Order: sequence, then C-alpha cells, then structure tokens
Amino acid sequence: MDRVRMGIIGTGGMGSAHVAIARELDCVTLAAVCDIDEAVCRAKSEECGVPGFTNAEELLDSGLVDAVIIATPHYFHPPIAIAAFRRGIHVLSEKPIAVTVSAADAMIAAAKASGCKFAVMYQMRTESIHIAARRIIEEGGLGDIYRTSMIMGWYRSQAYYDSGGWRATWTGEGGGVLINQAPHMLDIFTWLGGLPTMIHGRTRTRLHEIEVEDEAFAVLEYANGAHGYLYASTTEAPGTDVLEIAGDRGKIRIQEGRLRYWRLEEARSEHAAGATEMWSSPKSEEVEVPLPEVQSGHKAVQANFVDAILHDTPLVTPGEEGINALEMINGMILSGHKGQPVTVPVDRAEYDALIESLKASSSGKARVREQRVTDPKFQ
Ligand SMILES: NC(=O)c1ccc[n+]([C@@H]2O[C@H](COP(=O)([O-])OP(=O)(O)OC[C@H]3O[C@@H](n4cnc5c(N)ncnc54)[C@H](O)[C@@H]3O)[C@@H](O)[C@H]2O)c1
Repeated sequence: MDRVRMGIIGTGGMGSAHVAIARELDCVTLAAVCDIDEAVCRAKSEECGVPGFTNAEELLDSGLVDAVIIATPHYFHPPIAIAAFRRGIHVLSEKPIAVTVSAADAMIAAAKASGCKFAVMYQMRTESIHIAARRIIEEGGLGDIYRTSMIMGWYRSQAYYDSGGWRATWTGEGGGVLINQAPHMLDIFTWLGGLPTMIHGRTRTRLHEIEVEDEAFAVLEYANGAHGYLYASTTEAPGTDVLEIAGDRGKIRIQEGRLRYWRLEEARSEHAAGATEMWSSPKSEEVEVPLPEVQSGHKAVQANFVDAILHDTPLVTPGEEGINALEMINGMILSGHKGQPVTVPVDRAEYDALIESLKASSSGKARVREQRVTDPKFQ
C-alpha cells in the first residue's frame, strides 16, 4: 500500500478540518465521508466529490476505506472505533477517546485484538515546547517530581453551548469543561507528570445555563508522595494556561506558548540536608531550552497516523494513552459527586453507575441554535 484511503466520520466543525487536511496530505486519498445529518453529509460529499454515508457502519462495510478519523460527539467514538477495528480498519479518534474509562478500556482491547493502528487527536503533543519539556523530564532534568500544577482558565459563551443539542449535556456529551476543553491540557499534564493515585476533586456550574460543570478543581496525590493542583474552567477571561512541574533538581513552566526551565545547582533535598547557613537555598539558573523544528497541529497528527499505517512509524499520540486524560476527567467528576477523594485507576463500575444516573437526571437542552464552526485558532 502506498496511499491510505481515508474516511472521515462526523463532518461538523472539527471533521471538516480533518477533511481539508486529508485532501492536502500526500499519501492520503479522501475516499468517503459520513455524517448522521443527511444535509451535512450530502453537502460534504458533493463538495469533495466522494461517496457520503449517513451511517458509520455502512461506510465501514463499503470497502472504500483503510482508515477512518472519528470526529463525532464523544459518546460515539468507542462504538464506531470498535466496529472499525473488527473490520481491520485503522482508527484516529478525536479527543477524548471516550466518555468513560470503561468504554475506553473496550476500545483499547479491540484495537489490540485487531492489530490495527489506533491514534488519538492530541495535537498538543506535536508542539515543540511540549516535546522539549518531555525530553527534559525523560533525561532526568527535574529529578524526582514533588509538585505538579495546571491552571486552564478558558472562556466560552452561552452561544457556544447552545450551538449543538449534544453539547454540555450528560446524555449528549457526558460532562462539561473536563470532557470537552480540558482533555488537551490534561493529556500534556499526565504526559509530563504521570498519573496521580488519588484525586480529591470538585466540579461546579457557575456561569452558564448548562447541566454539566463549567468549573473543576482538584488536589492530587502521587505514588512517590508528590502532590498536584488542578483548575479547569470555561468561565475565565482573559484566559490563563499555566502548567508547572517541580522536581528535586529543577522546574519547568509552560505559559502562554513559552517553556521555561530552571536547573538547581544542587538538589533541593541534598541542600536541605547539607547546608549549614540558616537562610541558604539551592542556587538555580534558568536554562535556554533548544526547541526542535517540527510540524505541529492536527495535520502533523494525521500525517503521523498515515506514516504509522504505511511505514510502521511510531505513533506520536497512541490511542491507548488517551486513557490517561480520561482517568483524570472521570476521577474529578466522581470525586466531586461523592464529596470524597477517589483512587486512580478510577473504579469502572462506580463511574458507569454515576454517569447512568446523571444521564437519567438529564433535562436536555431548553434552547439550541445550531452552528458547526470549529474554533478559529484550530483552523
Ligand atoms: N482536537 C481538537 O482540537 C478538537 C477541536 C474541536 C472538537 N474536537 C472533538 O471533535 C468531536 C466533534 O466536535 P465538533 O466540535 O466537530 O462537533 P460538531 O457538532 O461541530 O460536529 C459533530 C458532527 O458529528 C455528526 N454526528 C453525530 N453523531 C454521529 C454519528 N453517530 N455518526 C456520524 N456522524 C455523527 C453531527 O451531525 C455533526 O455534524 C468531539 O469529540 C470534540 O471533542 C476536537
């Protein structure tokens, strides 16, 4: 095979961007599109001159595609991916890979059983600052991590929430800021700092007429005794994105698209034990971090997925690692609803029971003004 025949399932805001990228990439033939909405499907199929399907399984059975990108609302990612894997079709799933860790487990198991490539659209992993940050940590530049923190204060208007019937409902989306906006930063947060073993979280709805959370915060505990702090919201303006990881030998901060790294001349623990002066502290220097020249964004992830299919290139965003952000999301929601800390891995049966009860209590949307426009900064 020297080209991948690609199908895009869900051609709304994000799926349309994936269609455009598939048409640009060498080694990809856009072979089919699918959207459950007949008018959306027809328009995209005519625009691209490829067959359109309103049912994902019909596209998968058509024999037209080697791989699919799933850009439907989140609940549909696992069933469509599992149906694809059963037919030997490679999958790139939009984030989050699923709404619940149990559904993600099933998806990961189906991918493994099929031997197909499974990737997730966590495009922030392709950005040079995150690659460089990961390298510092892998090379021991921070030493033993003792503190992590993430502040993700974003903003969304009510018009955003009203733009789709599925958005910000327990039945349609399965959560609010945690399941929709936070997955990208949570993926980077766990990619750099690992998964905690304990989450003490709270979730609230503060600014919007929605039934799910628009604010979430948590205190985290890690196996090595480290702790962390987390905040995510769609209520903050101007926005703030800060990620900090502090270790015995140094600290990194990622803020406003910039990576900073401080290296300690002497480890924090060694200085504490060895210093004789009352007011001394370990000396630190800020180190200039060389950033790799890389292709980044959605296009880089789709290109890497295609290279993995054609040449067995390692995936930059392996689908099974999509479970990490989901452990954080489910853990914070579960802990918030119980009013108690929860352990990670999250108890699958307990979270499934919670999400089912939240879905049962869902009052749905009083007002929908449909718009399918993806965030301009991702175009
Ligand atoms: N990676 C990113 O940067 C990024 C950015 C935005 C959205 N997303 C993700 O992309 C997904 C879609 O978000 P969006 O903003 O494009 O939503 P959207 O509402 O604009 O588009 C979703 C489309 O899927 C279609 N659809 C719904 N159910 C379907 C089904 N069962 N089969 C086929 N089509 C179906 C809808 O008709 C709609 O056209 C979400 O999971 C979201 O988290 C990722």
